[in-house]
Amino acid sequence: MRHIMVLNAKGGCGKSTLATNIASYFATEGANVALADYDPQRSSLDWIDRRPANRPEIHGVSAYEGGLRHVPRSADIVVSDAPARSHGPELTDLVRHAETIVVPVLPSTIDMQATANFLKELKSVGRIERKQAKIATVANRVRDNTLIWDELDEYLSKTRVPYIAALREAQNYIRAYTRGIGIFELPEYLAWPDWEEWEPLTDWLRTKRSQP
Ligand SMILES: Nc1ncnc2c1ncn2[C@@H]1O[C@H](COP(=O)(O)OP(=O)(O)OP(=O)(O)O)[C@@H](O)[C@H]1O
Ligand SMILES: [Mg+2]
Repeated sequence: MRHIMVLNAKGGCGKSTLATNIASYFATEGANVALADYDPQRSSLDWIDRRPANRPEIHGVSAYEGGLRHVPRSADIVVSDAPARSHGPELTDLVRHAETIVVPVLPSTIDMQATANFLKELKSVGRIERKQAKIATVANRVRDNTLIWDELDEYLSKTRVPYIAALREAQNYIRAYTRGIGIFELPEYLAWPDWEEWEPLTDWLRTKRSQP
């Protein structure tokens, strides 16, 4: 069973947005997907509740209550949505099963600074030090021709953590969440720019490079 976690201690950077879209991507590819929500805010589980019955099923797991105990044995992939403010022993416990950790980062000085602090802490967690999980960053909600996007791009390129993709700010993410689907399930004429931006991330997630 493949385990991908979306994680950043910084709130509001797009963890639930990425987690639901990663789950939707693998489900549309025919995988048996479980989406484990570690956040009592339940954004990922609420998204599953909105999911139309004619879409590939994604199994919701209330991981904030019982961890991964209720993940079905038949699942090929578990995508975990982490809560904000995960630090210390709680962080160590949270990443216990993760093989791949995707860290979304917003173009904002506060977010870049918080992420720098977080990556430093994450790298010191035993599981990461021992290379039992791979980490990568993803720029999220980027807007072309803004100075802060240039700064974020430069910052993420310089960190020693692989920087895999940059996703634009788009209403498609809001639209898709509202309908309980991912951007991969929106019509091509609307979502093709987002599909293109996701390609490096989905490619990375499908290959050995993202696995320990
Ligand atoms: N690429 C994007 N384009 C437009 N809106 C986005 C994008 N990514 C995220 N959002 C919006 O930003 C807000 C925060 O995103 P999200 O809830 O996914 O972040 P989070 O990291 O899970 O937050 P929390 O720390 O509260 O769990 C949401 O309203 C979401 O719809
Ligand atoms: Mg969230």
